[in-house]
Amino acid sequence: MDKIIDGKKISSDIKEELKEEVRQLTEKGISVTLAVVQVGNDSASTVYVGNKKKACEYIGIGSLSYELKEETTQEELLSLIKELNERKDVNGILVQLPLPKHIKEDVIIKAISPEKDVDGFHPENVGLLSTGQKGFVSCTPAGVIELLKRSGITISGKECVVIGRSNIVGKPMAALLIREDATVTICHSKTVDLKKVAKRADILVAAIGKPKFINSEFIKEGAVVIDVGIHRLEGKKLCGDVDYDDVFDLVSAITPVPGGVGPMTIAMLMKNCVESAKLKNE
Ligand SMILES: NC(=O)c1ccc[n+]([C@@H]2O[C@H](COP(=O)([O-])OP(=O)(O)OC[C@H]3O[C@@H](n4cnc5c(N)ncnc54)[C@H](O)[C@@H]3O)[C@@H](O)[C@H]2O)c1
Repeated sequence: MDKIIDGKKISSDIKEELKEEVRQLTEKGISVTLAVVQVGNDSASTVYVGNKKKACEYIGIGSLSYELKEETTQEELLSLIKELNERKDVNGILVQLPLPKHIKEDVIIKAISPEKDVDGFHPENVGLLSTGQKGFVSCTPAGVIELLKRSGITISGKECVVIGRSNIVGKPMAALLIREDATVTICHSKTVDLKKVAKRADILVAAIGKPKFINSEFIKEGAVVIDVGIHRLEGKKLCGDVDYDDVFDLVSAITPVPGGVGPMTIAMLMKNCVESAKLKNE
């Protein structure tokens, strides 16, 4: 097992596999199309949306792009989602978050048809995951599971600690690790003695949103460390929630930032789009 988990390589392997799957689907007359909706022009969102469109193009997934102005009302957005839900040629719908403050994210997420919810945020898909049933899974935690499996890291029976309880990362991450037969602890901002709990982890997942928060004092020797965080430091360098240099000698494997979890999110989004097209045609 390599000590540095190469998310760039693993995500690129997944994209190649998907490219082949899409080619085979096309031969059967089945097309895959993702609709990407962005409201406003948040610069980070524009970069994410651009990367998603590029990935679609590479794999052979069609993409429809909706760039709506900041003042778009909730009703207008709901009406576009209704139209996309009804369109037979659209397999996946992605509304880029965050949305402007006057639009309620939970209302929008619930309006997307669960069969087209390739982000895995709809309560129906969250419920399916919690009850161990098949459904779309949030892309970042799904990507973490792929990283672990494709790096030959056993999850079953391991003591896993997830730091962060967000709906997008922490909670689905914990549910997926349970599904893989790990023993899971979720920590958050109110956890007492975080260092002590984190040190129990054979596999530690950091999704905190604080640059270099996790240092060697949180790590058990030989642990696998997955860093979900992504931050741009002054001078434009990227870093994660983990102090990579400080923990490196202690860990048995670690994801770098950039080049770890980040590239996996888009790969898993593409995988969900292909799954959606396959399910529709089953
Ligand atoms: N790589 C990717 O594709 C990707 C995708 C999503 C999020 N992220 C990154 O992952 C990080 C987490 O994202 P999120 O959306 O889950 O963030 P969030 O802000 O919604 O959640 C952060 C979580 O961390 C916990 N937390 C905050 N301070 C803490 C502390 N001192 N001790 C323990 N727990 C604490 C909070 O309780 C919360 O549950 C961010 O850096 C984000 O940019 C990366």
